Amino acid sequence: MLATYSQKFILPTYLVILILLNFSCQQPKRESLKDEFSSDFRIGVAVNGRQVTDEEDGADSLLHLHFNSLTPENGLKWSRVHPEEDRYSFEFGDAFVTKGKELDAFLVGHTLVWHQQIPDWVFQDQEGQLIDAELLQKRLENHIETVVGRYKGDIHAWDVVNEAFEDDGTWRKTSWYLLMGEDYIAQAFRKANQVDPNAELYYNDYNVWKPEKRKAILEMAQALRKQGVRIDGIGMQGHYRLDFPSLDMIEQAILDIHEAGFDVMVTELDVDILPRPSDFDGADLEISFAESERWNPFKDWITHEKEAELVRRYQSLFQLFRKHSDKISRVTFWGLHDGSSWLNNWPVRGRTNFPLLFDRNKRLKPGFLEAIKSE
Ligand code: GLA
Repeated sequence: MLATYSQKFILPTYLVILILLNFSCQQPKRESLKDEFSSDFRIGVAVNGRQVTDEEDGADSLLHLHFNSLTPENGLKWSRVHPEEDRYSFEFGDAFVTKGKELDAFLVGHTLVWHQQIPDWVFQDQEGQLIDAELLQKRLENHIETVVGRYKGDIHAWDVVNEAFEDDGTWRKTSWYLLMGEDYIAQAFRKANQVDPNAELYYNDYNVWKPEKRKAILEMAQALRKQGVRIDGIGMQGHYRLDFPSLDMIEQAILDIHEAGFDVMVTELDVDILPRPSDFDGADLEISFAESERWNPFKDWITHEKEAELVRRYQSLFQLFRKHSDKISRVTFWGLHDGSSWLNNWPVRGRTNFPLLFDRNKRLKPGFLEAIKSE
């Protein structure tokens, strides 16, 4: 009787469990960027509001599988987080931190001091006249105290200052610079460090591969250190093109930043594949550019050849980054997938661009991981 029972139920159930277990072990492991580079550097991505609140289908699983660092694309910029003098908006920031905790990710705040995406009131009095250095410093300190203070211990690092230099290495004549002089940089770093002494603090800029710009940045950063101001790393934004800048230029930047004693990060990586009109100005012109096939050649789909060219560019960039993984702590993509890239709208509005490693269906572009693994 017992034997019949076990033959009928227990043994078959046991066998089914064994088969299922065996099957699940044989499931191919899903390929993951962060696993592939786990002994090299963190793999980060810039996220938007719909991605941190799970409103965008499929974003969450992509974030979990591939990324161990997040940066807010726009949500913590001054205009979003502090639109009016007495009004802060923390909806995005709070959701960003929640998502970061779910992922156990290294969170980078972006950005405390920049000349773009900042409201006019910051630099003006009620009559619209420019304020003096003292009041601007006070506003800066209040901003840092409130924003960095709110996320103390949750956001692990900050891009404290963004884009203070022109490409030729001269100071960018922003309202910060014009009102406070060079000192605004030291003030911002000092305050951020005072509010959260455990947060890492970075300077971030584009075209760091340009020697004259890099020289100015590194001199500024070293001068800060000499004054006892904390500055941990230099973010190279990494808005690259298919054939430019050269790997040699990027490599020299990595070497120089490291040699100067700073952590190197690639903070805003993307590869623009579209042609760039160099002599345009005005918004109207931009619209007609987008309508013209010449400036929007892959309006509906990208050719295999072009996609393969993009993947090869990423492959060579990551080969270089891996070669210098002792100097680079993080590589962050500027956008989760092609559909959410700012490059669909810059420098020409309304184009279809394909600058990231994930396409509009959130599929990892074929060939990248295979090529990296086979090295
Ligand atoms: C700069 C900024 C980013 C972002 C990009 C383009 O690189 O640092 O926050 O605005 O421009 O979108």
